[in-house]
Amino acid sequence: MSILICPHCQAPLEPTENRSYGCENNHQFDVAKEGYVNLLPVNQKKSKNPGDNEVMISARRNFLEEWHYDPLVHEVASLIQSQLTDKTAATILDTGCGEGYYTHKIAEQLQSISPQVYGTDISKYAVRLAAKRYKSANYFVSSVFNLPVADHSVDLIVSIFAPFDAAEFQRVLSEEGKLVIVSPAENHMKEIAELVYDEFRPHERTILEKIPEPFAKVETKRCSFVLDLNNNKSILNLLKMTPYYWSASAAQLRHFETIESIQVSCDFNISIFEIATVK
Ligand SMILES: C[S@@+](CC[C@H](N)C(=O)[O-])C[C@H]1O[C@@H](n2cnc3c(N)ncnc32)[C@H](O)[C@@H]1O
Ligand SMILES: [Zn+2]
Repeated sequence: MSILICPHCQAPLEPTENRSYGCENNHQFDVAKEGYVNLLPVNQKKSKNPGDNEVMISARRNFLEEWHYDPLVHEVASLIQSQLTDKTAATILDTGCGEGYYTHKIAEQLQSISPQVYGTDISKYAVRLAAKRYKSANYFVSSVFNLPVADHSVDLIVSIFAPFDAAEFQRVLSEEGKLVIVSPAENHMKEIAELVYDEFRPHERTILEKIPEPFAKVETKRCSFVLDLNNNKSILNLLKMTPYYWSASAAQLRHFETIESIQVSCDFNISIFEIATVK
């Protein structure tokens, strides 16, 4: 059974015979040839192409495929696995999934419990790329602020460097559902920031402190490592997948184009939340 609901009338969405999803009120959504479905109504779009653009998404695809963030990927997948030990066929939703690298890796590492894995992002370009390459999950275009997902139908939500909406997460999570949020820790990308800003200001823990009740933190795990990047292409990909690229001056960008090696601190907080019930 699908977890998807119609973004217009909230009735359940079911696959139809002609490669589309439909609801009982005759709203229909075609499945694109790559296999994803676009469930973002026009009135929820704040721009023509919301979300990360092609430059950022392509840079992230190229960078992640060189395995640089795999220590993080393994840590996240292992933590998810530890939260789902007593489950078979768990339903996992990756919100703000980008081009699907983590979504796929999580699905792959959790194969033993045969999870149903979904990835969603507001960027159609990102979702198209994800669906084309990573067949281990189901993808749909939507906003995290209006998820076309049935109430209490998801066992675990993962949100990696993406916007979140605690009320929506609470609505779609099952009573015992878990929320995993990956956010930058203090020294994340310090060396890149120092090349763009006069002064490096360590990341604060504000993201995690913004998760309101009834979510209660179970634990936070810090994941830190240093990347040794030895070619300009990877360095530029890393820059382009971050907001630093858009803050850098023309002179700074020219400088980045000449850097052949750099060590970059990667520093993440992986936090697990559950929904606290009043006893
Ligand atoms: C920094 S990227 C992280 C992508 C992916 N989780 C990763 O770590 O590779 C943030 C993602 O959030 C998406 N995004 C931005 N606003 C969104 C929204 N309202 N709903 C869903 N996704 C959104 C962007 O399109 C982008 O793909
Ligand atoms: Zn409908």
